[in-house]
Amino acid sequence: MTHTKYRLGVIGLGEGRSIISAAIQSDRFELANVCDISEEACKTRAAEFGLTRYTLNYEDMLKDPEIDIIAIYTPDQLHGLHIKQALDAGKHVIVTKPMLTSLDEAHELLKAAEASGKHLFVGQSSRFFEPMIHQRNDFLAGRHGEIDTVETYYISDSRWFLKKGWSRQNGFSWMYNFMIHAVDLAAWYLPDIEEVFGYGHSSSTNKEYGLTAPDTMRFLMKDAAGRIAQVSGSYTKPALRSVDPGISCTLRGTKGSSRAVYSKLLYHTHFAPEQAVTHSFEDKHPYYFRFEGESHHAGEYQNYIEYFAECLDKGEAPKPGLYEGIRTLAIMAAMERSMETGAPVKVKDILNHYSL
Ligand SMILES: NC(=O)c1ccc[n+]([C@@H]2O[C@H](COP(=O)([O-])OP(=O)(O)OC[C@H]3O[C@@H](n4cnc5c(N)ncnc54)[C@H](O)[C@@H]3O)[C@@H](O)[C@H]2O)c1
Repeated sequence: MTHTKYRLGVIGLGEGRSIISAAIQSDRFELANVCDISEEACKTRAAEFGLTRYTLNYEDMLKDPEIDIIAIYTPDQLHGLHIKQALDAGKHVIVTKPMLTSLDEAHELLKAAEASGKHLFVGQSSRFFEPMIHQRNDFLAGRHGEIDTVETYYISDSRWFLKKGWSRQNGFSWMYNFMIHAVDLAAWYLPDIEEVFGYGHSSSTNKEYGLTAPDTMRFLMKDAAGRIAQVSGSYTKPALRSVDPGISCTLRGTKGSSRAVYSKLLYHTHFAPEQAVTHSFEDKHPYYFRFEGESHHAGEYQNYIEYFAECLDKGEAPKPGLYEGIRTLAIMAAMERSMETGAPVKVKDILNHYSL
């Protein structure tokens, strides 16, 4: 069976590099154009991937009838604007995390999505990483039995990120940019998280960069059935690279437990009556990490754009989409309020506050 090839336009060519690589290597996509306000960034990517065109003007991609999908990798604070423009132009949207930096913009997006009838997919890349994919398959196959605890973790020394000008501007926070990976994984397994409670601390390193939102956070969350998630993040301290897993997700259930780990692509399982086993997917490292170091996420993006293509083929809404993205933002807004007040906060109160 032959499939449609979807034509992709990419805006923001830092991490956008990963989706360019993914599109070029996928037989489901054609890279139609790329855009950045920095001509240097455009020229660098054009030379790297042998691209014959680029634009400095987003409008060129928005009005191009040849483009089906816009993929957005601009600084966090610009996502809301760029999504709305793409939906208004009648394009499907892939937006990297965080979808928005505040729920203030949610209503406008809901309206724009409804008017356009187009699909929006939030690129929560960690869901599409090899160990996490295997864990999800085991979860869906019921191998854990009844899950009652989820522990997710994103701890890294990400001081390098503060070299980016926009990470020191209003709208950036470690929670929305980094910890969202751990929050999303927890909410993936416990979609009914109803209450959150936690503490955050802003280190002297954080303050030196002029940031006020905490760089270390620890949270407990509870879902409607009383199941518990524990979600942790720290970003400006030296990491214990040999033992800190980067991003990880642990599920503990009546029949089995598992931990999917970012670092070294490991997946630990214990499904009774089997013994505990560690599975390594290190052989897939070159697929997931195509450039220097591990700071880009091309393999995860390859997996998610191909998933998105399948959803479009079937006319199905991709996951996570706009509503799930809004719920994750509401959980994070509740986390922020809990840090401010020192009290547990209900996610429903946040949604009510924004009339969502
Ligand atoms: N795992 C992941 O999913 C993952 C990983 C890294 C980054 N990201 C996301 O990607 C986004 C970009 O991060 P980054 O690290 O590439 O930042 P970056 O600063 O390296 O790159 C952003 C690019 O956007 C361009 N840009 C800024 N304003 C623009 C505008 N108005 N129009 C067009 N281009 C514009 C800049 O010139 C720059 O080239 C962030 O939202 C970040 O959260 C996601």
